[in-house]
Amino acid sequence: MFEKFLHNPRKPQGAGGWFWVSLMNWGHEPLSRWGLSHLAIKPGDHILDIGCGGGRNVARMLKRAPEGRVCGLDHSEVCVEKTRRLNRRAVRVGRAEIRLGSVSENPWPDNGFDVVTAFETIYFWPNFAKDLGEVRRVLKPGGIFFICNAMNVPEEGEAPYQFWVKKLGLKTFTPSDFRKYLTEAGFGEVNVTGEGKGRVCVSALAKKG
Ligand SMILES: C[S@@+](CC[C@H](N)C(=O)[O-])C[C@H]1O[C@@H](n2cnc3c(N)ncnc32)[C@H](O)[C@@H]1O
Repeated sequence: MFEKFLHNPRKPQGAGGWFWVSLMNWGHEPLSRWGLSHLAIKPGDHILDIGCGGGRNVARMLKRAPEGRVCGLDHSEVCVEKTRRLNRRAVRVGRAEIRLGSVSENPWPDNGFDVVTAFETIYFWPNFAKDLGEVRRVLKPGGIFFICNAMNVPEEGEAPYQFWVKKLGLKTFTPSDFRKYLTEAGFGEVNVTGEGKGRVCVSALAKKG
């Protein structure tokens, strides 16, 4: 039972899921604010947050893009519901739209977003290389893909948080892994910024053509 509870953030469900999404909205705030300080959002940007969890990042980005639109995608019904509730005013006026679905079968059409974000979620993506193709597809040419993780894995030496990585089956990436996967998926200008062992953010531009 406790094991099931520990694995719940992969796809929050039931009462445990509601607990986790509230905890994530609160507990991820410092990481999220640090990450967003490295992302240049323009007032009119059309943004998609993949793995939107409890929806706090959707709310933050709505403030940063007052003339734009922020969409959320999550494969958990609890997350979709929580994000819609938290951002209900923006949903009502059409400034936010939250959909249920997987990163592997992104429900949005091609070339629609200026920015796609992924906070604390790529650890769980079924096939990172293939899923990046879906991110690339929904981004406009020249659009930004932005990743923010709590695990900054060094190129050499001991990787942090190995107990949790193994226990929860998380996928983690070094800076050169990020560069390789993103370049192969059609992204350029890959920028990796780490801070200690506990923070990393990555930005990359969808190549034109
Ligand atoms: C640790 S939570 C992070 C939530 C939020 N981004 C945050 O920073 O607080 C991971 C989120 O990714 C979502 N997720 C995991 N795999 C997914 C997939 N294949 N497709 C869509 N969402 C996924 C989970 O449902 C969960 O909401």
